[in-house]
Amino acid sequence: MNIAFLLNGESVELAEVSPTETLLDWLRERRGMTGTKEGCNEGDCGACTVMVTDERGARALNACILFLPQLHGKAVRTVEGLSGPDGTLHPVQQALVDCHGSQCGFCTPGFAVSMATAHLNGDTGHKDALAGNLCRCTGYAPILRAARAAEGQPVPDWLSADQAFRGPELADSPSPTCHAPRTTDELARLYAEHPQATLVAGATDVGLWVTKQLRDLDTVIFLNRCADLQEIEETESGYRIGAGVTMDRVHALMTPLCPSYAEMIRRYGSTQVRNAATIGGNIANGSPIGDNPPALIAAGATLHLRRGDARRALPLEDFFLDYGRLDRAPGEFVEAVTVPKALTSLRVYKLSKRFDQDISAVCGAFNLAVEDGIVTGARIAFGGMAGIPKRAPHVEAALIGQPWTEATIDATAAAWAKDFAPMSDMRASADYRLTAARNMLRRYWAEGMGRATNVLEVQP
Ligand SMILES: Cc1cc2nc3c(=O)[nH]c(=O)nc-3n(C[C@H](O)[C@H](O)[C@H](O)COP(=O)(O)OP(=O)(O)OC[C@H]3O[C@@H](n4cnc5c(N)ncnc54)[C@H](O)[C@@H]3O)c2cc1C
Ligand code: FES
Ligand code: FES
Repeated sequence: MNIAFLLNGESVELAEVSPTETLLDWLRERRGMTGTKEGCNEGDCGACTVMVTDERGARALNACILFLPQLHGKAVRTVEGLSGPDGTLHPVQQALVDCHGSQCGFCTPGFAVSMATAHLNGDTGHKDALAGNLCRCTGYAPILRAARAAEGQPVPDWLSADQAFRGPELADSPSPTCHAPRTTDELARLYAEHPQATLVAGATDVGLWVTKQLRDLDTVIFLNRCADLQEIEETESGYRIGAGVTMDRVHALMTPLCPSYAEMIRRYGSTQVRNAATIGGNIANGSPIGDNPPALIAAGATLHLRRGDARRALPLEDFFLDYGRLDRAPGEFVEAVTVPKALTSLRVYKLSKRFDQDISAVCGAFNLAVEDGIVTGARIAFGGMAGIPKRAPHVEAALIGQPWTEATIDATAAAWAKDFAPMSDMRASADYRLTAARNMLRRYWAEGMGRATNVLEVQP
C-alpha cells in the first residue's frame, strides 16, 4: 500500500508499506529518529507519544501500536519537530527545563509531545492528559508544574502547517493483503469477499498481537478511512454511534448524557488509548473485561451488524454467547451501536487495581427504574464476572417488585451466586469479585440516597 503523510512539516511518500509496520519502528529503525522512545511497546507507558493531526484536530497517540497505513493523509509531529527551525524550544519544552521536569530523560520526549498536544488544544486537565505517560524519576510534580507554567502561552507558528495538511489523493494501490476502504459500503463488500481478513480499527488490541505476540496478519482491512463509520447520529429515542467512533468522542457524548459513564471512560486506558480505541473494537473483540459492553447492556443498547448488504440488529447482550464466541458470521462486522437517550438512572463503576490506565477487575453497570419507592425495572450488567459481559437476571428478578431499600439489597444475597461464578486471576480473586459486585449495588443505592460514594469525594 502507498501512503503519504506530513512528518514534522515535511511530506513523506512511502510505497508498498507493510500493513503492520508500526510508526515507532519506522521512525527509529528506518529514519534514525530515535527521539521517540520505546518503553513497553504495548500502549502502556507513553514514551512513544506522537502528535497526529487530521480534520478532527490534533491528538496524542502511541506510535508503538500505530500502523503506518493508519497515517495516510495525516500530519505527524514527533519530539524532533516540537522546537522551531532555529532551535527555539516549544513553550512546554522550555517549561520542562525551567521546572526541572526531567531527570534521566527517558520519558521526557513522550511527556513533551503529550503536553504540546494538550497545550495546542487548550486542554488544562493536565492529570488526565498525562495519565498515560509514566515517569520513574520525577514524582510527576515538576512535570505538572511545567504543564501549568506553559498554559496560555501562544502555540508556536511552526506547528500551523499540520492543521492545514490534508494529504494528496494517491492513486489506489491495490494489494491482495492490505485494504483501506473509504466507505462502509466498500468495507462490507471487501469483508464479504475476504471473511478471513483481520479488521483493524484503532489497533489498541491488534497492535499488541503484532508487537507482543509477533503474529503475522495475513489479509488486513483498515477501517479508519471509512468516514461514515465514524458518525454519531441523534435519533428521536437515542444515539446511533458508528463502530469507528473513538473513545474520546464517546466520552464527549456521555459527559452531559451520563456523567457516570463518562467518568468510567476517563479511566479507560489513557488519553493516547482513548484517542485511538473505537467502540466497535471494544465490542467486537469479545473481551469479558471490556468496559463499554456492561455499560451499554445496562443502558439497553442495540447492536447493528452488517454482512455485505444484509443488516441485522440485536440486543447487545445477545451478541456475547460464550467465552471467545460471538453471534457473528464470517464477513459480518459491527456497523454501529444505538444507545437510548434515557440514561439518567445509569451508573457505571469501574474497579481496577490502579486508578488510571488499568483494565477493570470488575466493571458494574446499574440501571433501575423505581416508581413510588418500588423497583419496577432493572438492568444490571458486569464485566469481569464471567467469560463474557453478562447481565444479572437473578439479582434483577430479586429486586423487581420490591421496595428500593437496603433490606431488599440484603435479600438479593443468594441471587448473586446463581448469576456469577467469577474466576480468580492476577487482577482479583473470585471471592473479591463477587463481594465487590454486591457492594456496587449497595453503592448504587447509597448514591441514589445522596450519599458520597466516589473515592474522589469521600473525605476522612
Ligand atoms: C494500554 C491499553 C489500555 C487499555 N485499557 C482499556 C480499558 O481501560 N478498558 C477497556 O475496555 N479496554 C482497554 N484496552 C483495550 C482496547 O483499548 C479496547 O478493546 C479497544 O476498544 C479496541 O478497539 P480498537 O479500535 O483499538 O480495536 P482493534 O485493536 O482495531 O480491534 C480489536 C478487535 O476487534 C475487531 N474489530 C474492530 N472493529 C471492528 C468492527 N467494526 N467490526 C468487527 N470487528 C471489529 C478487530 O478485528 C479485532 O479483532 C486497553 C488497551 C491498551 C493497549
Ligand atoms: S512504548 Fe510504551 S506506550 Fe508505546
Ligand atoms: S525522568 Fe526518568 S523516567 Fe521520567
